[in-house]
Amino acid sequence: MQKRTLAKELSHVLGQPVLLRGWLNNVRAFGKLTFLILRDRTGLVQIVVENKDEVKKLEGLQPGTILRIHGTASTSKEAHLGAEVIHPTIEIEVPIREIPPIEYYKPEMHNDLEFILDHRPIALRNRQLAAIFRIQAELTHAYRLYMHDQIKAVEYFAPNIIGASSEGGAEFFNVDYFGYTATLAQSSQLYKQIMVGVNERVFALMPFFRAEPSQTSRHLSEGKQFEFECGFFQHWHEILDIQEGCIKFILQYLHTHCKDEIETLGGSIVSAPLDVPFPRLTFQEAQQLYFERTGIDERQEPDLSPAAERELCAWASETVGTDLVFVTDWKTSKRPFYSFPKENNPELTNTFDLLCAGTEITSGGQRRHTYESMVDGILLKKMDPSNFEDYLSIFQYGMPPHGGFGMGLERLTMTLLKRKNIREASLFPSDPKRIAGNRIKARIFFGGENIRNEIIRQLHLHNIEFKHMVHDTTPTSQDSAAVRATKLEEGVKSLIVRGKNTKKNYQFNIPSHLKLDMKAVQEAVGEKCDFEDPAVIKERFGLIIGGVPPFGNLLNVDNYLDEQVKKEERAAFNCGLTTESIIMQSQDLCKITEPKIGKFSKN
Ligand code: 4AD
Ligand code: MG
Repeated sequence: MQKRTLAKELSHVLGQPVLLRGWLNNVRAFGKLTFLILRDRTGLVQIVVENKDEVKKLEGLQPGTILRIHGTASTSKEAHLGAEVIHPTIEIEVPIREIPPIEYYKPEMHNDLEFILDHRPIALRNRQLAAIFRIQAELTHAYRLYMHDQIKAVEYFAPNIIGASSEGGAEFFNVDYFGYTATLAQSSQLYKQIMVGVNERVFALMPFFRAEPSQTSRHLSEGKQFEFECGFFQHWHEILDIQEGCIKFILQYLHTHCKDEIETLGGSIVSAPLDVPFPRLTFQEAQQLYFERTGIDERQEPDLSPAAERELCAWASETVGTDLVFVTDWKTSKRPFYSFPKENNPELTNTFDLLCAGTEITSGGQRRHTYESMVDGILLKKMDPSNFEDYLSIFQYGMPPHGGFGMGLERLTMTLLKRKNIREASLFPSDPKRIAGNRIKARIFFGGENIRNEIIRQLHLHNIEFKHMVHDTTPTSQDSAAVRATKLEEGVKSLIVRGKNTKKNYQFNIPSHLKLDMKAVQEAVGEKCDFEDPAVIKERFGLIIGGVPPFGNLLNVDNYLDEQVKKEERAAFNCGLTTESIIMQSQDLCKITEPKIGKFSKN
């Protein structure tokens, strides 16, 4: 069996027979000649097809077709490898006749980022997109090399489903954890400090999850952080030295190992000459500098604006000759609970951000390291020390002065490669509009009032006749029927159950005078179910039991409707609030909520 030759190896085997395998990238006819471009893991290779029978084989084949090609390696002045393949025999391993939804096979895609994201799995095959993520892989490797070989730090692997917020604030996701509420880690902050107690110097590449509700060009809901933490420094600025050394090492590494990829992306990446130290400004100096350069006065603000971050980097680039700048000594009110307050001024902390080409890529600093101080820090941020027992124990049993940093992988990739949007630096970005690259199709409505508004909006939108009523709470279905002046049988009650295996919620809507038949429920959904806990319903959907409307679709749960409801002409139900009802044709209710219909009730 002949060994496979890769695109990049071609120039080493000139004149010899070769076997290539790869994806058809594109085909161009040029007079008598047809040029077939094949893609493999090392790049593109040109194959010159003269033989008519061979050309014929390519008819109707689209990019993505898997090919196996026997031919001869030959020098070429035009081909970018300096080599091409001639006299090919083409074998089609997997024919593709479907036109790809996006022209990834072109050297550059000029599509809108949203369109590219809509076709992410295929778009990633584009040379430029592939180059971004090849570089991302290499810079990650460089980070590991630096931390392991030069800093002698030990890698750790921390959990991502954790019990309490790791950074404070509100930007965290809750997950249903066997009926308990757990949190997705905002960082591995607490664990890296714990590991300093073991190994003094530690590092990691860890996922982070942030419930950042706003859509910006530099925030993701899920990403990765390069973590670092060390103990026993003389001065906390040693953390900045390590961070600076790390960036310079990574850049040097990329310049030697990713020449082609950088070229593919246009040739220019961020500049950080080895002999130019990153400037170090205090927060106050940074604000002053921004004011002096622009006349915009943000000196009373507790934070730097994105515009100020851009301006500070422009300043560093123009006057110092580097694209990176440190900002230190941030306000205690703006930093997390674990930040070390300055001895001479507890309003400020020994913390820093590193800005790169206009964007924060790193936050870090010294941490509180005595038990008393850490408890103070937690209380100061109005958090509960009892949620931090494991973490606090390390301070009870001895922690040295220590600190470190967290650097965003996607932010680093984006700024080093001068990309405009962080989504370009994440394979499958999650944000308020997408989960892992996919558009969120079902929008979940939260809270009784929002849900009522949405129901009414949809009814108007579909020109559906209905009656909306405000009334006192009605403890029983008889009471409801009385205030609505409807028949008892017309009342609909909406019950949310939870699957015992999947923990998934389902909604069952039945006539309000009947009971839910749990056997029928089990049959319908394929698993045993219990009634969901009212506290969970409140937390998850913002609804209280009597107020749940038969609109499971708005809650993004599977929606089931008892056939009895359909038999009545009208349907009456609470529309999100226990004090408001809607009466409408049951036919219309079916049309608009698209439930699965069956017999789910019993007497
Ligand atoms: O500034 P952050 O929140 O700091 C921490 O997580 C601390 N535990 C770091 C420390 O050691 N004290 O996050 C650190 C970095 C940011 O500078 C940014 O690069 C990235 O992580 N990051 C995000 N990147 C994209 N989208 C988000 N929503 C991000 N949140 C943080
Ligand atoms: Mg930060």
